[in-house]
Amino acid sequence: MSDRPRVYLDNAATSWPKPESVYAAIDTYQRQLGAPAGRSAYQEANEVERMIDRTRRLLAETIHAETPQRMIFTSNGTDSLNLALHGLLRPGDHVVTSVVEHNSMLRPLRHLEQHADVQVSRIGCDGRGIVDPDEIRAAIRPTTRLIALIHASNVTGALQPIEAIGQIARQHELLLLVDAAQSVGHVPVDVRAMQADLLAAPGHKALMGPLGSGWLYVGPRAQQHLVPVRQGGTGTQSESDVQPDSLPDRYESGNHNVPAIVGLGAGLEFVQQRGIRALRQHEQTLTDRLLDGLQSISGIRVYGPTDRNDRVGVVGITVDGWPPQELATVLDTAYRVQVRAGFQCAPLLHRALGTALQGGTLRLSLGAWNTTEHIDSAIEALTDLAAETMAS
Ligand SMILES: Cc1ncc(COP(=O)(O)O)c(C=O)c1O
Repeated sequence: MSDRPRVYLDNAATSWPKPESVYAAIDTYQRQLGAPAGRSAYQEANEVERMIDRTRRLLAETIHAETPQRMIFTSNGTDSLNLALHGLLRPGDHVVTSVVEHNSMLRPLRHLEQHADVQVSRIGCDGRGIVDPDEIRAAIRPTTRLIALIHASNVTGALQPIEAIGQIARQHELLLLVDAAQSVGHVPVDVRAMQADLLAAPGHKALMGPLGSGWLYVGPRAQQHLVPVRQGGTGTQSESDVQPDSLPDRYESGNHNVPAIVGLGAGLEFVQQRGIRALRQHEQTLTDRLLDGLQSISGIRVYGPTDRNDRVGVVGITVDGWPPQELATVLDTAYRVQVRAGFQCAPLLHRALGTALQGGTLRLSLGAWNTTEHIDSAIEALTDLAAETMAS
């Protein structure tokens, strides 16, 4: 292994490192508490219950949800989207979505299309990867039930005009599901300003929780239609064999991943202390530096918006003469610059961008811990490698 310092630019997959407080919270839970949540009433179990409630409250504050009970814990962003889509859609329903989506949205929708008589319209995007709200409006049919859209792209970093789309949903009395995996923690997210009825996200990306954490916001209009996809023990109303109706128990069957939720609580506290606006500013400064550096290298093409207000710190590129996967391997082995290559679970977007035939793109994704030195190391490495091909 090279003795260069590790330059982690794969924060869109999961954030690393986590704040020290996250490691400490998990360690304390595992060694000293170790009790389940919501099931028993001894002192450690009560303390665990308080920690879970605290994470729920911090999550609700982060996205301006009406109450903490509307925040449903899941195991990851995919699990949250599956609960939203399978819990809501019925035969005959029509959904408007886009080609920008991640497979965690595309595949459940494809499954429902194939097996449950749900119809799906997939709207295209412009060259930056941004969807036009007018195209969404034009796709609405009398049977449309849901608009399901990604907020920030995990391929190009493009932010969608989600508030305009929320207004369209409201005007047509449709529900709006937002995939906020790449936006929450990076940009301010307000479910009420967006008019989102359901908002799905992992806890392990910008919110700094560990892998195995995720959540779904269930708004007042969605609640009456969203059926639980799992039933089972909730620790409440144990005298009944019928799933409780109250939130969050209705959608939270089985023992929680308590270490992950406790870690997520510490992560959320870190994000609140740093402030999302300050985190955004830090990432924008680094993203601008990265985009400027990349644009000065011949043989590199950058995908996604150039305006900092239209994007997050996820940058997709191709380098002439380099298959993305091979480039990622050399970046890691020779330079310790760690990125992701390929389709990033977004096959339709790569077709739309024209990057499918060459095997996708190389993705550099920034996070709270990245520094100007990290950006400069990546630019230097890519300058070398782009020149190598140009020279050969
Ligand atoms: C846009 C988007 N949606 C959904 C997901 C799925 O999240 P998870 O990996 O937590 O299931 C991801 C993960 O990369 C993502 O980038």
